[in-house]
This record gives sequence, structure tokens and C-alpha cells, in this order.
Amino acid sequence: MVELKPEDMKDIQGFVMSGYAHLPCVSYQMLSVVNATAARGWLRNLVSAVTTSEGKQDISSLNVALTYHGLTALGLETSALESFSRPFIEGMATPHRSRILGDNNDDNTPDKWDWGGNNSEPIDILLLLFAQDEPTLDSVIKDQQAKYQTGGLAKVVALGAGRQPDIHEHFGFADGLGQPAIEGTFQTKDAPAGNVIKAGEMLLSYINDYGKPAESPMVSLASDRNGLLPEPPPLTESNSAQPATRDLGRNGSYLVFRQLAQHVARFCQFLEEATLQPDGQLDPAASTKLAAKFVGRWQSGAPLVMSPDADNPDLAKADDFAYRDIDDRGFKCPIGSHIRRSNPRDSLGPTAAKAKVTANRHRILRRGRSYGDRPKDRLVDDGVARGLHFLCLNSDIERQFEFVQQTWCNNPVFGGLNGEVDPLVGNLTRGDEIFTVQADPLRTRVHNLERFVTVKGGAYFFLPSMSALRYLAAL
Ligand code: HEM
Repeated sequence: MVELKPEDMKDIQGFVMSGYAHLPCVSYQMLSVVNATAARGWLRNLVSAVTTSEGKQDISSLNVALTYHGLTALGLETSALESFSRPFIEGMATPHRSRILGDNNDDNTPDKWDWGGNNSEPIDILLLLFAQDEPTLDSVIKDQQAKYQTGGLAKVVALGAGRQPDIHEHFGFADGLGQPAIEGTFQTKDAPAGNVIKAGEMLLSYINDYGKPAESPMVSLASDRNGLLPEPPPLTESNSAQPATRDLGRNGSYLVFRQLAQHVARFCQFLEEATLQPDGQLDPAASTKLAAKFVGRWQSGAPLVMSPDADNPDLAKADDFAYRDIDDRGFKCPIGSHIRRSNPRDSLGPTAAKAKVTANRHRILRRGRSYGDRPKDRLVDDGVARGLHFLCLNSDIERQFEFVQQTWCNNPVFGGLNGEVDPLVGNLTRGDEIFTVQADPLRTRVHNLERFVTVKGGAYFFLPSMSALRYLAAL
């Protein structure tokens, strides 16, 4: 096991190690480069304000990430640009990636996105600003705006996620519970052993679950005039062909950002109607249970596999569970529920151990936040925009985030099912969308599921190390 050294923690942006739960207000400022020389100067000055993984900052935190378009605009050499991973180079909105992600139907298509799509101005840089309260956030935003506006950058869009009353997302469920922990870091302290993943699953150039250094972008040795970047990892099959290079990716990660609008009234009305009693009376308990079956956890967070019949707040944070031995057939937690699809744990494969290894090769570190106020009446469409700014980190977008979305959430034959997709984030397009609640002796099927979540924007970013930020600023 590689223990991350203090100097690495100093080099890794804080957002990798923490979602800053102690800083409830956030602004995501998406910027475009207007003047590359000035923008590099801006980045040079910004570096000292970037929060690292070294320690917690109580009042505010700042992180920065770049798109492929942004790296090009800053003047990164072509060979280095080409050494990034394919999904990052292509971007989230290309037709090929839209097909992978299920963003290829009327509602979700990037043609209609508010940002990051085919009809919007390209995003170059993402500035993530977190603060302890609204006044602090306002002053951080003002300060940063003044700096980037005179620093060769222009705002494309700013998205906010304000203080929420608790950790529940808008459909009512505790969120951010099932998370992997990076080996060799403090994250493993209270993590169940099965949730610990190799550092290379999140951090580029570190050894991943295949025993190889996670693929990392490289720059030419000559371009690193100030000797800011580390050497590439020792020669392996994957990087043996590289000439003299320096490692731009080490201690960095890829950041996936998707703005997912949630249609709360549609969700709640659907649950009510789907669980009406034969005489037409409402059945609130059945409606609550069906929602929990969709998710795989109760609203408190308690996993259905551990508490199948009723919510149990004592289990709200439980994340040390599996499916095979106690719920192989989905009688407790449906096979097609959101959490069982997005992390099937030990359930898919010849043995529990093998299944677990496979599932852990597709983990993502979620860093999302709800945006928009909670509705006063969950059954009434008040027209307010709300949802989840879904952010996640991974070292291999294709094998991790895209795989989860495509091969698990959007897969109609996932785990032996037939013709259904994830009830929350699946590509619900075909008309009579179904969700199966496995049960003994008889399963039930819910019909005519609607789209409860719509993609409003998105992009793939590179979250560089501090050294890489300094290198980019010095280009
Ligand atoms: C608006 C959209 C979404 C909502 C409302 C939502 C909601 C939830 C909730 C309530 C949980 C259970 C609590 C927890 O473990 O944190 C969860 C877990 C999870 N979600 Fe989502 N989610 C959304 C989008 C996504 C997307 C797009 C992905 C990835 C493609 C995803 C991947 C996951 C994963 C990996 C877990 C943890 C599963 C586990 O380890 O057991 N979610 N989500």
C-alpha cells in the first residue's frame, strides 16, 4: 500500500479529499479565456489561494479545474493535449459520448442544455468557490470576479448551490453516503474495508486496481523549463513509448460535472398515483416505500437490505453492506434500484469476492450538491428550478463514471432484468417504462415511469495538482 506523503497532500487540490461539508454555500463559476497571456497571469496569482488537501479551511475554499478547450486556450502543447484521455478530449456533449450517457433523446440532448452543450459558449475554466455562509460567499465571488475579469477571462455562466436544511436531496433522501475511500489517506479511517480503493482509481499516475499507474497526461521535458512537474511513473507497457516527458497529471484527477434538474412534483405525484388503494384512497406508507425501492435506501439513508420493512434512522449512515448473501434476488433492495445499479457491490459475478473486485473498478467519488430551494408543497410544480449539481471524481472517465451511467444505470438487462432502466437517472424514453419490485411469491411491476431527472448541462474537467497549475500558469 502506498501511503500518500504530506508533500503529496500539499500538491493535491482539497476537493479530492473533501466535499467541504462544513462550507454549505457554493458557487461554480464557469469561465472562458479571452486573452491567454492575461489568463496565465491570473492563474499564477490564483495558485496561492487554491485549497489543498493539506488541511481544512474553516471559512472558505477555492478549487480550479479546466476543460480540454481551456487547456488549448491557455496554450498547452499539442502533444500534451493529445495525451489526455479520450472522453476528456472529446467532451461530454459530442454525439458519441451522448449515446454512451443516454443524452440522445429530446429532453436530455446537449442541443438543449443551458451550458456546456452544442449551442452554448465553450467552458474553459471552472472555479469552485465554497464558503461558510452567504455573505462570505458573496464577498469571495466579488473578489474573484474582479480578479478574473481583469485577468483575461469572462464569465460564461455561474451556478449556485445554496445552504440546504440537511443532507437530503430534493426527492427527500439522504445523499452522499455510499462513497469509496482512497487507500493511503485519512479517508480510510472509518471506511469499511470493502470501500477502500487504490489511489490510482482517483489520482492520475498512482497505481490503480489493475496494478498499473493510472493513465496520465504528459508534457515534453523541454516545456517544463522550471522543473515543476514530476517524472512519469516507471516504465510500463502503457507508457514505454513515451520520450522524455514530465507528468502533468500526477496528483490530479478528472472531474465530471452534470447539472441534473429534478422534477419533484412529478416524482411525488407519480408515487401517489402508483400506490393508490383499490378504492382510490391514498396510501402514504406504500408511496414512501415505493420511493425507497426506487432508491435502495430509506429517506433517512438506512439501506433496504439492512432494514427492508421500515425506515430505521439508526442505520442512516450504514455503508458496510452487500447484497448476495442476504438479498440475492432483490426481495429487500430491488435489483434495479438506483444504489444497486450504481454500485452493485458483491451481486454481479461468479462469486461475491470477484463481483466486489469488479464493482470496485467502477467507483466514483461523488461531490454533488443540491441547488434550488425545497418546494413548499412537494406535490405542486412551483416552476422553481431545482436539482442536483452532480459532480464526481475519477481517474478514468470511461471505466468509472461513464460505465456506471451506461452499463449499469441505463442497461435494460442489468442483473437479469428485462427492459427497464434506473428509475432516477436512467434514460426513460420508450413510453411504457417499468420498474420491477421483486417479491416472494409475486413480483410487482410499476408502469409508465416518467422522466424525473433531466440533464441541463455538463462538462468533463481536469482537476490538476498544484504543480500542474503552476506549470500551466508558466506556459
Ligand atoms: C438527480 C440525480 C440523482 C439523485 C437524486 C441521486 C440520489 C442518490 C441517493 C439518494 C443515493 C443514496 C445515498 C448515498 O449513497 O449517497 C445515491 C447513491 C449513489 N448514486 Fe445517485 N443520484 C443521482 C444521480 C446519480 C448519477 C448521475 C450517478 C452516476 C452515474 C449516481 C451514482 C450514485 C452512486 C455511485 C451512489 C452510491 C451507491 C452505493 O455505493 O451504494 N447518482 N444517489
